[in-house]
This record gives sequence, structure tokens and C-alpha cells, in this order.
Amino acid sequence: MEHSNKILFSIKNLSKSFGTKDVLKDVSFDIFEGEILCVIGRSGIGKSVLIKHLNGLLEPDKGEVTFEGRNILHLNNKDIYSLRKKVAMLFQSGALFDSMSVEENLALPLTEHTNLKLDDVKKEISEKLSLVGMEGIEKLHTSELSGGMKKRVALARAVMQAPEVLLYDEPTTGLDPVISDIINDLILDMNSKYNLTSIVITHDMRSVRKIADRVIMIHEGRIIFDGNIQEIEASADPVIQQFIS
Ligand SMILES: Nc1ncnc2c1ncn2[C@@H]1O[C@H](COP(=O)(O)OP(=O)(O)O)[C@@H](O)[C@H]1O
Ligand SMILES: [Mg+2]
Repeated sequence: MEHSNKILFSIKNLSKSFGTKDVLKDVSFDIFEGEILCVIGRSGIGKSVLIKHLNGLLEPDKGEVTFEGRNILHLNNKDIYSLRKKVAMLFQSGALFDSMSVEENLALPLTEHTNLKLDDVKKEISEKLSLVGMEGIEKLHTSELSGGMKKRVALARAVMQAPEVLLYDEPTTGLDPVISDIINDLILDMNSKYNLTSIVITHDMRSVRKIADRVIMIHEGRIIFDGNIQEIEASADPVIQQFIS
């Protein structure tokens, strides 16, 4: 798929350490409006740390992250709030509340951020559930859902707040190939239907081949690849080859 040349995020010389562990070292890249960018790399390499800088969950030790031209670090509380509304995150765990029904989980972003009436909230929920192929499950408890269903409900919840950007942290990890493909199709659907920009962390190359407009690979704190799927398949770098094959 084509993306615009408009830069949405610009990450410049980003470094991040925890204690003595240098996780990200001088990382720079841009994210373009409309693209599906896959971030790959070994487990524990810093993928989640990287994308948590995109909605201000983490702050750089050095360097900067700008969204729509503004340094995220300089945003006031109100602007951080609107950033998080625009940049929704789908956590690895799904992060649904187990003690609540599907409906209650989905209502949260709306009751927190808007003044919609209950009937409108319900209509919105039913729309979003059918979007992810889960219509009619409003009254189920989150604890009754399978892993794949949880991912879909979490995705429905992420789009409730009408975001511009979706950050997916390992959306297909732990799912079988059939369910993974359903999630991959949803990522593609959401991206085109809502003109989203999608950043997808994954170590599942099947997903990357299916959805990525562009791939970034992180290794030892740095970006060792930035390009499209054909280019990464053709790379002669043994670290890259080992990862993708
Ligand atoms: N809040 C934190 N405090 C301390 N260490 C952390 C924190 N978050 C991540 N790390 C460490 O940073 C490294 C990268 O983690 P992460 O980004 O979660 O890896 P992954 O590529 O698997 O997503 C790991 O060694 C992890 O233990
Ligand atoms: Mg992670």
C-alpha cells in the first residue's frame, strides 16, 4: 500500500537505558502517515521500549520524538491527553479488564473521553464489535473469551476512541496461524478503512510478509534494517537472514 510523504513521527537520536542496560542507542527514523510499519527484532531487544516513546509512556534519555512536528516531551498534560487519544496502543496482553464484561471494557474509552448518551455508546460498541467479527458478545465476561477473541475485542476497544495511529505490540503472538491471519486482515482493514498509520511490533515473519509496507529491524540497540519486504528478503546480512528465515 502507498503512504503519503507526510512525516507523522520523527525519532531523532533516541537513546534509552534502564540502569546500566543501554536498550536503545542513538536510534533515528521517521514514520509516514498512512503506512503500516513493522518493527522486528529478537525478544528483549527493545521493541516495546521503542514504541512506548510514541505515546509518551516512556521519555527519551537523549534525543527526541516529535508527533505532527511537536516534541512529545514538551507537551503539557492536556496535549499528552489528546496525543494518547490520537495514538492508541494495543498491548501485548490485550489489557482488558477481566472482571468486566466486553461491553464495559469497550465503553471505557467513550465514558472517559466523551459525553455520549448510553444508547449511542451501545450503538458504537455494537458497530466496533461487528467490525472485528465479534458481534453480539457484549454481555460475555472477558474471562470467557479465547486468546484470539481477546485480541479482537482489544482491537475494537482501541478504535473506539477514533485514533489516527494504532500501536500494536505483538498482536499475533501466541495465536495459531488461522487466528493470526484474521488479526492480520483486521490490521490491514483498519488501516485502510480509517486512514490510520499502524506500527506493528512482531517477530512473526508471516505477519510481516502479509501486512508490512515497511520494516525496521532492531538489533543491539540500533536499527540494522529499514526498507520494504523485498529488500529485507534480499539482505545478505547474516543477522537479518537468521531472523527472517
Ligand atoms: N520499565 C523497565 N525497567 C527496567 N528495564 C526495562 C523496562 N522496560 C524494559 N526493560 C528492559 O529493556 C529491554 C527491552 O525490553 P522490551 O522493549 O520489552 O523488549 P522487546 O523487544 O521484547 O519488546 C529488556 O531487557 C527489558 O528487560
Ligand atoms: Mg515487547
